[in-house]
Amino acid sequence: MDKLQIQGGIPLEGEVRISGAKNATLPILAAALLTDDPLIVANVPHLQDVTTTIELLGRMGVRVTVDERMQIEVDASSLTECFAPYELVKTMRASILVLGPLVAKFGRADVSLPGGCAIGARPVNIHVAGLQAMGADIRIEAGYIRARASRLKGARLVLETVTVTGTENLMMAATLAEGETVIENAAREPEVVDLAHCLIAMGARIHGAGTDKITVQGVARLRGTRYEVLPDRIESGTYLVAGAITRGHVRVKHTRPDHLDAVLAKLEEAGAKVGVGDGWVEVDMRGRRPRAVDVRTAPYPAFPTDMQAQFAALNTIAEGVGTITETIFENRFMHMLEMRRLGAEIRLEGNTAIIRGVDRLTAAPVMATDLRASASLVLAGLVAAGRTEVERIYHIDRGYETIEEKLAQLGAQIRRVPG
Ligand code: EPU
Repeated sequence: MDKLQIQGGIPLEGEVRISGAKNATLPILAAALLTDDPLIVANVPHLQDVTTTIELLGRMGVRVTVDERMQIEVDASSLTECFAPYELVKTMRASILVLGPLVAKFGRADVSLPGGCAIGARPVNIHVAGLQAMGADIRIEAGYIRARASRLKGARLVLETVTVTGTENLMMAATLAEGETVIENAAREPEVVDLAHCLIAMGARIHGAGTDKITVQGVARLRGTRYEVLPDRIESGTYLVAGAITRGHVRVKHTRPDHLDAVLAKLEEAGAKVGVGDGWVEVDMRGRRPRAVDVRTAPYPAFPTDMQAQFAALNTIAEGVGTITETIFENRFMHMLEMRRLGAEIRLEGNTAIIRGVDRLTAAPVMATDLRASASLVLAGLVAAGRTEVERIYHIDRGYETIEEKLAQLGAQIRRVPG
């Protein structure tokens, strides 16, 4: 297993280009199941989760071709099986995104139930209940969700909790249902909106994506299109924190500043000079130590749970005391325990971490436990005195394209070594 070795203490300077958003790419690839025409997806990040999705589609008999620029063509006209096996779903929960499209287009799906997860229980009951309300017959058997339906029927769905992939699954299913579906308490994340834009380009009739009420008029069929995935706001935020934590000056390019409001507000509070332009954002710490900030995660447009761990890293070396309150997932604090190994002063009280900034962290071997946790350990490694080794970085490869190359471009001393 590869490791990352990081020599801490260098202020990062320079520019980095942001990749396409993982969490928009995955549902958009699943949306290809809704049409018999090829769907061409551009600006796809080169990530393990994308590879897993391609493998999943391939197992179903879907033809997937990837060109050298990571433009992916998905042709579901050759589909032979409506099946997502446990061995793939257990490695990537987002595999659940094939459920809605398969039921809507083919009237059947056998999708493994995702099991436990390192960050929380993460059930899929809302996905299942929504499809049932649209007329699907769903049983849970032998660890699988077995769904059968003739044509789905539009329905009014009031989601019990704001769920990103749940909203996406149900919105995709509704595109081919008979009549109108209204999704209330829908997720407003930019990735949901990006998926809606792709579906609209395929001929879907969707209104209200980006608000908490999405209305979908079902159509008989969707067509292929070419769609370019939006930039990854979490990758953007992670490199901006890398600039702030190292007292550096970092610009992220090819991004969407308007998707980063909550994150940029916290960076300003931490003392960064934030600049924004057309497709770029920069933070400049002017050599100063960051100030501790209080963060509370909540659905978009509030502060994203996927940026919580990175701000925890920032607080470990900041001036003062900052709190991180996690309200989305019940077990997303594993990185806090690893950061203590670097000398961080962190106290956990329920879903809040109270972090007292220390003058310096010191290097140690640490272990990544999930994607965003591993990013936060890399950030901590960038400021820890000595050489930090981050183990189990397969987690990071799921969501950050060539992180060591991008950080090295900003001046970090980082390398990947075989474990
Ligand atoms: N929930 C339910 N029932 C459901 C669905 C969700 O109770 O049927 C609960 C969850 O347990 C959680 C809350 O609702 O407490 C919100 O979870 P959500 O469903 O929104 O999460 P998700 O769709 O599984 C996506 C991202 C995550 C991101 C969350 C929250 C994708 C592929 N994944 O997950 O991304 O943290 O939304 O924004 O879009 C990551 O990229 O590292 C990552 C974990």
